[in-house]
Order: sequence, then C-alpha cells, then structure tokens
Amino acid sequence: MAINWFPGHMHVTKKALIERLKETDVVIELLDARLPGSSANPMLAELTGRRPKLKVLNKQDLADPARTEAWLDWYNAQPETRAIALDAGEKAPAQRLIQACRGLVPQRGGMDKPLRVVICGIPNVGKSTLMNTLVGRKAAKTGDEAGITRVEQRINLASDFYLFDTPGMLWPKIIVEKSGYHLAASGAVGRNAYDEEEVALELLNSLKGHYASLLAARYKLSDTVAIPQQHDDELLTQIGKQRGAVMAGGRVNMQKAAEIVLNDFRSAALGRITLETPEVFTAWREAAEAAEAERIRAKQAAEQARRKAFKKPIPE
Ligand code: G4P
Repeated sequence: MAINWFPGHMHVTKKALIERLKETDVVIELLDARLPGSSANPMLAELTGRRPKLKVLNKQDLADPARTEAWLDWYNAQPETRAIALDAGEKAPAQRLIQACRGLVPQRGGMDKPLRVVICGIPNVGKSTLMNTLVGRKAAKTGDEAGITRVEQRINLASDFYLFDTPGMLWPKIIVEKSGYHLAASGAVGRNAYDEEEVALELLNSLKGHYASLLAARYKLSDTVAIPQQHDDELLTQIGKQRGAVMAGGRVNMQKAAEIVLNDFRSAALGRITLETPEVFTAWREAAEAAEAERIRAKQAAEQARRKAFKKPIPE
C-alpha cells in the first residue's frame, strides 16, 4: 500500500533532530504497543546509531499483555537499550522514565553533567498526552503541522534531567507492506491516505490466526476453528451481515463493515491486541530490506544499461 505520509516540512524536523542529537545522551522512542515494530521509525534508528535508547511501549492498556512482555524482553536484550511499557492511565510516569534513562548512562548526572534526553515518536502515538502528564498541565503540542517553526520544547524532569520534545516524525517510505496496513489500522495515518476496506481486510488477515476467538466473540461467529482458514473477504462479509451493515437487496456494505472492524480494533472493543511479535516483524523487515536492496540494484543496472545503449553508435 503506497502511503504518502512524508510531507515536505518533515525535512526540517529531521534536520532539527540531527542537531539535537549531537548533544543527547539518551533517545526515548515512543512506540505503539499494539504495533511496536511498525511504529518504530527506521530513519530514527539510522540517525541515532549506537546512542543509548529507551523504548517506551505506549498504550499498553490496548495491547496484548503477553506480547508486550515479549517485546520488552526482546528490546531489553539489545545493547544500549531498555524498554518499559506505559499508558495514559499511569499517574506518575516521570520516575520510571528518569530511572530507566539514568540506568542507561550512569556516568551522567549532577548539575555539571545533566542528562539530556530527547523524546521521539510517530504522530498519534500519545506523545502529547505523555508530555502533558509529565509537565502536569496542558503543554502546547510541539509543531508537527506545516508552518509551525518551533520544533522543540524542553522540560526539566529533575534539576539535572532535561527532556527535549520533538515533533511527530515520519519516514519517507514504508518498505514493510504489513506495516503500512498496521499503521493505518492503528489510526497513525490520516484517513485520506488509505482505503478503509483494504486496511480492514489486512487487519482481519493479521487477526484471524492468533485472535480468532476474539473475532468470534465480538461478532458472534459460530465456527471459531474455521476462522483462520477463511478468506479475508468472506470474514468481512460475515461480520457485515452480523452487524447489520447490509444494503437494499441484501448485499453487505463492505465500507460500513470495514469501519466497524477498524473502530472496534482502535477502541479495543475487540479486546487487547498486538498485531506483531518481535520474531515475525524481524522476518518481515529482513525480507523487505532484501527486496528493497534488490529493487535498487535492478534500477541501477537498468539505468547503466540505458546509458550504455545511449552512448552506442547508431548502426547504419
Ligand atoms: P501525539 O501527540 O503522539 O500525536 O498523540 P496524542 O497524545 O495526541 O494521542 C493520540 C490519541 O491517543 C488521543 O486520542 C489520546 O487520548 C490517545 N492516547 C494517548 N495515550 C494513550 C494511552 O496510553 N492509552 C490509550 N488508550 N489512548 C491513549 P484521541 O481520541 O485522538 O483524542 P482524545 O479525544 O482522547 O484526546
């Protein structure tokens, strides 16, 4: 699915972040706990390199607790990385954030060497909500709209702990196909950038194996065992029928059925769900990176061949 979600002003954001990173001790990346792999910004990984990282799996109240544990273990096993899970219901998240960051760079601290931390995350991941809780009031949203030039704000979580906020940052191309669908299903992508029916079908495809019983319970589908084998279209049609999304003549209104499924996922009416496991997402990412490298290689080869052909003398 092609999502054009990298507006021009993102280049400004990226430049500002590169500058900020020069004087940063820890990078906090806020992830959506329902899609930790897809909501991680590959561009950020490139920009931050080996700098210590704190991964915050946010919205854990909507995610599958067992899978959240699996992601935390996976991140905590990586070098220079810690991970914690959070949600907006947490009354005082600051202490946990501070503690985790201090653990990553114990050599920093005190007034002469304050800990400088930058917080990043894709739009809608809950960064403003968290910042508001941290500052204890309604903080202005750090500008991720075109035309907003103020690109960061600093809050002091302790006298020697500075937290710099950055605008929600995107990356130019989503190479893992499933990620595009998962991001759209989560609500991270503007409505005009995708087709709801297509996204709902892919969401059902991701849910029907591990979460068949949740689908069966929510939509009163009688044969839970058959769900993983059903075609996505067939499943959406059945859900539409069950939920009364039917047009004159008895045909299912697939658009309406898609909206029902997407809303039920987003509000967790379906239950607490995590669409990705570390192992599966890693396999998707590796396959996508290999395919992307091959695509670039083929494009370069074609370009070289074209140039060579162009320079060849035209036969008489
Ligand atoms: P952003 O700055 O990263 O773009 O995200 P923001 O804080 O604006 O949050 C995006 C949406 O996610 C908001 O819902 C917010 O309430 C919700 N949210 C944030 N953190 C959590 C969390 O831990 N758990 C759950 N369940 N939801 C969370 P909204 O419907 O867009 O707006 P609102 O009317 O709720 O404010």
